[in-house]
Amino acid sequence: MPHSDFVAALLQRMTLAEKIGQLNLLSAGEGPETGSPATRNIEGRLAAGQLGGLFGTKSVASVRAWQEIALKGSAHGIPLFFAEDVIHGHRTIFPLPIALGCAFNPQLWHDVARVAAIEASAEGINHVYAPMVDIARDPRWGRIAESPGEDPFLAARYAEAMVRGFEGDDPRAPDTVVSCLKHFLAYGAAVGGRDYDNASLSPEEAIGVYAEPFRAGVAAGAGSVMGSFNALNKRPMHAHRALIRGWLRGTAGFDGLMVADYTGIMELAAHGLGDRETVAGLALLAGIDMDMIGEDYLNHLPKLAEEGLSRPESGIDIPAADIRAAIDEACGRVLALKERIGLFEDPYRYCDDERAASLPLSPPHRRLARAAIAESAVLLKNNGILPLAPGARVAMVGAQADDQTNLLGTWAVSGDHRQAVTLLEGLHAGHTGPITCVKGADIVDDRILADRLNVHGQTVFLDTRSAAVMLDEAVDAARAADVTVAVVGEAKEHSGECSSVTDLGLPAPQKRLVEALAATGMPLVLVVKGGRPLALEPELALADAVLFAWFAGTEAGHGIADILTGKVDPSGRLSAAFPARTGQVPVHHQAEATGRPYPGRFEKFKTGYLDLPDTVAPATGLLPFGFGLSYTTFAYSKPSVDADRLKGVDATATVRVTVTNTGARTGTEVVQLYVSDPVARITRPMQELKGFEKITLAPGEAREVAFTLNRRDLSYAMGETMTSVEWVWDPGTFVLKVGPNSRDLQSAQIVWDA
Ligand code: BGC
Repeated sequence: MPHSDFVAALLQRMTLAEKIGQLNLLSAGEGPETGSPATRNIEGRLAAGQLGGLFGTKSVASVRAWQEIALKGSAHGIPLFFAEDVIHGHRTIFPLPIALGCAFNPQLWHDVARVAAIEASAEGINHVYAPMVDIARDPRWGRIAESPGEDPFLAARYAEAMVRGFEGDDPRAPDTVVSCLKHFLAYGAAVGGRDYDNASLSPEEAIGVYAEPFRAGVAAGAGSVMGSFNALNKRPMHAHRALIRGWLRGTAGFDGLMVADYTGIMELAAHGLGDRETVAGLALLAGIDMDMIGEDYLNHLPKLAEEGLSRPESGIDIPAADIRAAIDEACGRVLALKERIGLFEDPYRYCDDERAASLPLSPPHRRLARAAIAESAVLLKNNGILPLAPGARVAMVGAQADDQTNLLGTWAVSGDHRQAVTLLEGLHAGHTGPITCVKGADIVDDRILADRLNVHGQTVFLDTRSAAVMLDEAVDAARAADVTVAVVGEAKEHSGECSSVTDLGLPAPQKRLVEALAATGMPLVLVVKGGRPLALEPELALADAVLFAWFAGTEAGHGIADILTGKVDPSGRLSAAFPARTGQVPVHHQAEATGRPYPGRFEKFKTGYLDLPDTVAPATGLLPFGFGLSYTTFAYSKPSVDADRLKGVDATATVRVTVTNTGARTGTEVVQLYVSDPVARITRPMQELKGFEKITLAPGEAREVAFTLNRRDLSYAMGETMTSVEWVWDPGTFVLKVGPNSRDLQSAQIVWDA
């Protein structure tokens, strides 16, 4: 990468030790941590010019204090940058990313990132470790909570909107931050859904599916990318030269900063790539610019830069000159990032006490967080009980009905749950009838699990009363009310990093609670909280309505009450399929074409499983990607295409559909376009999402929605290896399908000749 004159001149003046110092990245340790740092001696590192950036600060005062020490410790006055995990908001916490994915709304994603950037930068932060854009198709994996979901097209739109929201138009503006696409690559494809486990993917899936949001995010201007803990096809990502230097920097054209994940370089040794010195050399040569937490660059690069790295037994022979060149390159990128955001001109650019005091959790930010809930919560079932009748007597039941500690969800490291609105508070403010509230059941009844869930602060409180006493109390409350709203689901840390599960059903005590409430025969609404798709087959059968509210953030109570009372229409559509049972995962709508079962034969294999009812689609789950109900109903016309025969590279096809609000209320619909390519050179997905549009219609109103496709939209990734993958296109028939979700579609056909 050609550096600016300023960076080139600075590099010339720096010693090798000073350059290596810039590649070191540590945590300030002012908030929760996900591992054990190699050192806590930040002051010592700064005084010696051995730190390039710091993450995890919690105030302007602390940023200023660290910056002062850094400037004194650096012979050339090189400032630190300050990073933070700003995953779904900074102080104002928005619904989880998996929930935001359900909004199908790039403008909302942009605005959420903008607010997060305003709040984080107001506190001195200028670099965020977001957006997380790992495709996730196995809900056993806890970090699906942080992901925009299962679909590459949706995730790519999410990536570019978030990047633009964080980075704004001017990187030097004090309210913009450098974004970071993470985790590169295929972290979400961990085998068995086990966090940190490795992934094995075809080149077509790795590049055509998992890399898509990275491609889009890089094109939108992401300033950094973070490596991923896993190996992909046997090659640990922190040493994956072909994907980092080859695909990411080469094919995708990324010229920003490549940062390691937490001790990700050190962990290459545990992956079996060699001792700590070896892995430091391998990571650097692979293209990881900064070492987070493990300090292997700091400890080993000085020697490698003198002697090179020679490990004949592993076929490694890197001359010292190559190591020195790679150090220059990496250091140049760190400096370029600091230059780009104006830190050399003003190291305190982002330190403004007034902004810090007024912006975080400001009323407009809270309003956006509240509005985001209507767009991200998904109504899974409604037999007409919702919205609640005004004046109805409501029994709120559940350990999370009046609980602040579980509202924010995972990775809300700067969020304060004491600022969050409980569901009971929200309903009191929005509903006119009397409301009683009882607990009914513990979230879980297993002490070991409860301790694990309480790892980042207590959110699970085991009751001293017996389960039977609590159930009786819930049943009595339900009988005395017109309708019961049971708030059930996961605890805050049930989903998140290192939080994989083997059972996607509701925890046992809450299952029993739902059964007991349903047995009263009284109307029952479930508000389900979770950070992952859950297997809710029994509860969907028992309840009159089910609203999947995810972890909705600071404004949870208000936003969920807005939906329950009908003040707003729920317009979330699933960003990841919900399986019927845990054993059905992974599930997603891009299931591949197979040879069997073929129509009429092997009927018992219709679902793919002997023990699943025929109503469940084989691979796509109980509730498919894109699914969600509104309080109104919509009718779709048959889709039409402007021409059913096309020719040539530059042609475009436009498909049109008219959507009518056939109900009695104004409502919002997500119109979705999928494409199938029935004949191709390789096995293809049955369909791929290629467009979506969110529209709001008054009762009786009809609107035409048009999607235009070009040849790139109909091409697909193909290659023998990940680095030789190309996007190819086959002439012939394509099926264009439009509808309200990935299952209920009507189609039109086109023939596109070469
Ligand atoms: C996570 C990253 C995060 C980093 C710093 C790691 O454990 O995988 O997503 O950015 O910690 O907090």
